[in-house]
Amino acid sequence: MIQPIIKTENLCFSYSKSKNDISALDLEVPRGSVYGFLGPNGSGKTTTIRLLLGLLRKQKGSISLFGQPFEENRIDNLARVGALIENPSLYGHLNARENLKIAARYRGGVPKNRIEEVLEIVKLSYVKKKKVKAFSLGMKQRLGLAISLLNKPELLILDEPANGLDPKGIIEMRSLIRELNEQHDTTIFISSHLLSEIEKTCSHVGIIREGKMLFQNTVAALKNSQTGKLVVEIETNDTSSASEIAKELQMNPDIADEQSLNVVINRKDEIPGLIDNLRNRQIAVYQVRIKDNLEELFLSLTEN
Ligand SMILES: Nc1ncnc2c1ncn2[C@@H]1O[C@H](COP(=O)(O)OP(=O)(O)OP(=O)(O)O)[C@@H](O)[C@H]1O
Ligand SMILES: [Mg+2]
Repeated sequence: MIQPIIKTENLCFSYSKSKNDISALDLEVPRGSVYGFLGPNGSGKTTTIRLLLGLLRKQKGSISLFGQPFEENRIDNLARVGALIENPSLYGHLNARENLKIAARYRGGVPKNRIEEVLEIVKLSYVKKKKVKAFSLGMKQRLGLAISLLNKPELLILDEPANGLDPKGIIEMRSLIRELNEQHDTTIFISSHLLSEIEKTCSHVGIIREGKMLFQNTVAALKNSQTGKLVVEIETNDTSSASEIAKELQMNPDIADEQSLNVVINRKDEIPGLIDNLRNRQIAVYQVRIKDNLEELFLSLTEN
C-alpha cells in the first residue's frame, strides 16, 4: 500500500477545558491525492491545519508526515511542505518579484530562477511593476501560493484558498490546484466549507463536524454512498395539479412552496415524460432542476 503523506491517529486538541475542539481525529491523506477537508464554520479545519504545521501543540494522539513522526523530524518535514493559511502576509509597497525575493531569502536555499518559475505557475509573470497593494484579492492569493511553492513542496496545505474570491478567481484557483497536482506531482490538502468546491477539485474527502471525522474516503465513494435516486424541483403555474400528476407517475411528490414541487425519480430520462404529462394537461412548466443530492447529504451529515 502507498504510504499516506499525512496520517494522524486519535489527534486531540482543546483551546479551553470546556470543550474538545479536535477529538480523536484520524486523518489519512494518500500521496498524490487532492484531499478536500470539508466542514462547516467552526468545525476545526484551521485548528487541524495549525496542528499539522506545528503552529499549535497537539494534546493527544500522533501526527506523521511523509511516514515519519512529526516531532522527530519537524524541520526536515516542514521544509517539504508549502502552506497558505488565512491572508498571506505580503508587502504592499513592493511588487510580486520583490515580495518573492524577500520570502526566498527568508527561507534560504531557493535557487534564483525559482522566482520566475513560481510566477509562471501562478500566472503572475506578466505583472511587472505593479505594487501588491494594487493587486486584486485573487492576485494576492496567487502570490501567497507562489511563496508557498518556492521550496518545491511535495505537500501543499491550503486553508480555504477560494475564500473571498469572485467566480473568475475561484475558477483560476481550481485550475491551479489541478495543475499543481497533475503536472508538478504535488499532494494537496485543501480545506473548504463548500462541498461543491471539493467535489470539483478533489479526489478524496474528509468531512468533519465539531472536531470529529464523519466520513473519509474518495469523492467517488461519497457519491456512491447515495441511494441513486434523483430529486427534481419543478416550477409550474399549478403546483397542486402538477403534484397529482406526479403522484400518478409514482414520483413521490412533495410540495416545496407555492411555485415548486419536488419529485423523486430513478433516472434523468424520466424527466421528458413528466414534462409531456404536465403539458398535456395544460400546465405551464417554468423550470426543472435536478437537485444536488450530494449537497443535501453533506447538510444532513453536518447538521446538528
Ligand atoms: N484562538 C482560539 N481560541 C479559542 N477558541 C478557538 C480559537 N480558534 C478557534 N477556536 C474555536 O475552535 C473551534 C474550531 O475553530 P476553527 O477555526 O478550527 O474552525 P474552522 O473549521 O476553520 O472554521 P471556519 O470555516 O470558520 O474557518 C471553534 O469552536 C472555534 O470557536
Ligand atoms: Mg478556518
